[in-house]
Amino acid sequence: MIERMKKEDLDEIVIIENEAFTKPWDRDYFIHEIDENEFSELYVYRVDNEIIGYVDLWYMFENCDLTKIAIKRDFRHHGYGNRLLNEAMKIAKDKGSEFMHLEVDVNNEDAIRLYRKNHFEVVRTREKYYENQDDAYDMVCGLIGNATRKVLAIESSCDETACAIIDENRHVYSSVVTSQIDVHARFGGVIPEVASRMHVEQISTIVDQAICQSGLTIDEIDAIAYTIGPGLIGSLHVGATAAKSLAFFYDKPLIGVHHLKGHIFVNEMIKPLEYPLMALVVSGGHTELVYVENDNSFKIIGTTLDDAIGEAYDKVARIMHEAYPGGPVIDRLAKEGKMSYQLPTPKVGDLNFSFSGLKNAVNTLVKKETEKGNEINKNDLAFSFQETALRFLVNKTKKALEQYPCKCLVLAGGVAANSRLRELMQENFKDIDLILPPLKYCTDNALMIACAALHYLKYGKVVSLVASSKPGMSIED
Ligand code: KG4
Ligand code: ZN
Repeated sequence: MIERMKKEDLDEIVIIENEAFTKPWDRDYFIHEIDENEFSELYVYRVDNEIIGYVDLWYMFENCDLTKIAIKRDFRHHGYGNRLLNEAMKIAKDKGSEFMHLEVDVNNEDAIRLYRKNHFEVVRTREKYYENQDDAYDMVCGLIGNATRKVLAIESSCDETACAIIDENRHVYSSVVTSQIDVHARFGGVIPEVASRMHVEQISTIVDQAICQSGLTIDEIDAIAYTIGPGLIGSLHVGATAAKSLAFFYDKPLIGVHHLKGHIFVNEMIKPLEYPLMALVVSGGHTELVYVENDNSFKIIGTTLDDAIGEAYDKVARIMHEAYPGGPVIDRLAKEGKMSYQLPTPKVGDLNFSFSGLKNAVNTLVKKETEKGNEINKNDLAFSFQETALRFLVNKTKKALEQYPCKCLVLAGGVAANSRLRELMQENFKDIDLILPPLKYCTDNALMIACAALHYLKYGKVVSLVASSKPGMSIED
């Protein structure tokens, strides 16, 4: 509970003040602030009747100066500082302030992190501002139009367990991902039963870590999101159960996100998307050209008739006795290779794809060469396969854009991490606003689910606590 400071509070306040600051205010100064400074308002933060922190706000025209914020030592690092700052910002905004300003020691990393998290920006440095000669940052945050709805999202559709918290400004409070890839690598692919058991073991820790790292309390979260499909049914269930438990217990709206929409919307971490847009979705389970007319309308205009591109990478790597996942391995090998093996470019109509013929051709080639006693040049084979597959992808995308003119082209999914594909996209799509996701957002994570969830929230698209997971869900659903 936050309330105005009274003189009776000062016994407790002075103790906190003395432990928090090297040059503390004394009791008389606080009395002056309470009684005489007409610009100042002091607030205390009480938990179970105990004062655990306080702030001092000075109002000057459209600006509110945060002259002091303190949290009792035993209560630090539990999100109370963040809570108190948020309350102070709300109070100032309600009073009509347009900005909040503060000064902070440039070496006070914890405080600076807290302010940045709440959208404060450094506007100048005051040299040797403090008595110990430390510099200070002037930090300012706008209070008007600061959309701050926050979503906690969980991803568990395949072999990554992840949780992230972001707000409508795409500000990332936390993003935690743990991968099971080392375990599955021993079997050459994801074993669904092992995956769901490992999700069960990880999920509580990951959600806990995401909340702790965010510095937020669950009260400050506006909605809980999770991947409803597509994916492995057992894996999806674990994330769904965790999300539903949180939504039920804390009475929050629940959002069931399509995994591939996550891969598309994570590109907003780079810049806002413009519509209509074309998404080339390339992952372990999907290869799709998706025409996105607006953020609520998705149409599949091309899809694979057999294997997904990531699956083809994984299988070709396996044929070459290389580790799982095959994508990164082939990407690396191909860098040293050349086009010395002739492989057939897939032939399939419309805007569709096919990769099983290409994969079989690699298999036949390896068998024949091995029978003849010839050694395969892995670098060259990786290059030949990759170049054939990727040029096919790029050409179909060009065709799609001719038929469906768009303002923006985005690459999405695990295979978007491929270095050669990124190169080819940049070479071939110079006349359109091309967005390539940063590598850290290509493979599965929960940030992408949170990005998509914000769009669901905008349209009020929530699901009930008994919603079923949908392993084969289409992006058009
Ligand atoms: O999107 P994702 O993490 O999981 C699914 O939703 O399927 O994609 C995983 C796929 C795997 O097939 C993996 O081999 C592939 O993405 N991949 C790559 C690269 N990194 C991951 N494929 C080609 N080149 C890469 N650098
Ligand atoms: Zn994925």
